[in-house]
Amino acid sequence: MPEMVGLFNGFGGLASLLVGWAEFHDSRWESLGLAPVATWLAVLIGGVTFSGSMVAWAKLSEKISGKPLLFRGQHLANGGIILLLLALGAWFCVAPSTAYVGLILIIVLALVLGVLSVIPIGGADMPVVISLLNSYSGLAACAAGFVIQQTVLIVAGALVGASGLILTSIMCKAMNRSLANVLFSGFGSATSAGAGTGYQGEANPVSPEDAYYILEAARSVVFVPGYGMAVAQAQHAVRELGELLEANGAEVRYAIHPVAGRMPGHMNVLLAEANVPYEALVVPEDVNPTMETVDVAMVIGANDVVNPAAREDPQSPLYGMPIIDVDHARTCIVLKRSLNPGFAGVDNPLFFKENNRMLFGDAKASIQALVSEFKDEA
Ligand code: TAP
Repeated sequence: MPEMVGLFNGFGGLASLLVGWAEFHDSRWESLGLAPVATWLAVLIGGVTFSGSMVAWAKLSEKISGKPLLFRGQHLANGGIILLLLALGAWFCVAPSTAYVGLILIIVLALVLGVLSVIPIGGADMPVVISLLNSYSGLAACAAGFVIQQTVLIVAGALVGASGLILTSIMCKAMNRSLANVLFSGFGSATSAGAGTGYQGEANPVSPEDAYYILEAARSVVFVPGYGMAVAQAQHAVRELGELLEANGAEVRYAIHPVAGRMPGHMNVLLAEANVPYEALVVPEDVNPTMETVDVAMVIGANDVVNPAAREDPQSPLYGMPIIDVDHARTCIVLKRSLNPGFAGVDNPLFFKENNRMLFGDAKASIQALVSEFKDEA
């Protein structure tokens, strides 16, 4: 789904670019007051959105490495391209009829800028990038709306652009980082990935049968879904397990971290698809203060968003980022296939905590095994 959203953003940008290009060739184009400025913006933002989204799609679908690609003079190159785009834009707007070559150069440079702005951003920051590119695609559509003088397109594009920016800001806040830090810090590069490693200890594996006995005795359960739930498509099984736990007398909540998964609202969409009641969803700020009273926190394919190193280890690249404090629950059960780190590439000391149990395997298969245990005992 995140890859598809990435592609949709990209094609939205490409459509605006093509609208600008096509209108430029219309004989009535120059007589429209704002046309040159709007065409320049539609082509520029559309081009950046298209090529940037293609890089985001390639990173998300692992066609290319999710690691940030950094090279010397990167910011200088980007700055130079932006200055060139401004100069070409001025030429294009002042003397549009002579600026055919200028328009082609604007398109080429915009496409290059899109690639150069997204390659230094690590896979770990892709949810924020997807939301930012979504906003760009709206702004490009808004500019295209001015080109063809379509009020509906102007309003719809402005709404997408503004809501995308608000969402981007919410997601940056959820990671306690500025947008500049997300765009330029190269989070997840060779220097930060693997940092905070060397956590010692033994993980405690648990079988579905034993996990069933822990859950059967629980009166309060919090599910914490992450990207692994999406990969396993475990949301329907999770809802079924939630219903069985409720029938057994437990209070069940679903704690959603704003950046869990690979795109904004990823977990909300999956749980809504599985008909999990909206009232059962909680945000970290509400669930964290009550975590000590929770009997079982079930982490379903989440990793970075529950990494206690963000709270405890000043050496960790995640330090200071808000997490869901699942380690504060009486028992935590983590469902994943291995002890491998999450997308940020940072090890997780949660796996070695005394109150933590690892239920290894595909999340859907593990949850279905738990559902069967509940049904067999009924
Ligand atoms: P991730 O940290 O990427 O972790 C997903 C986990 O799912 C993986 O560790 C993987 O472990 C597991 N998984 C994959 N397929 C599975 C399957 N079929 N069954 C069970 N488990 C499976 O995801 P997240 O916690 O949702 O994080 C979301 C985003 O936030 C990421 O982009 C992350 O980088 C970003 N982020 C957040 C913070 C905060 S706020 N603290 C910091 C940095 C980055 P196995 O391979 O072992 O199964």
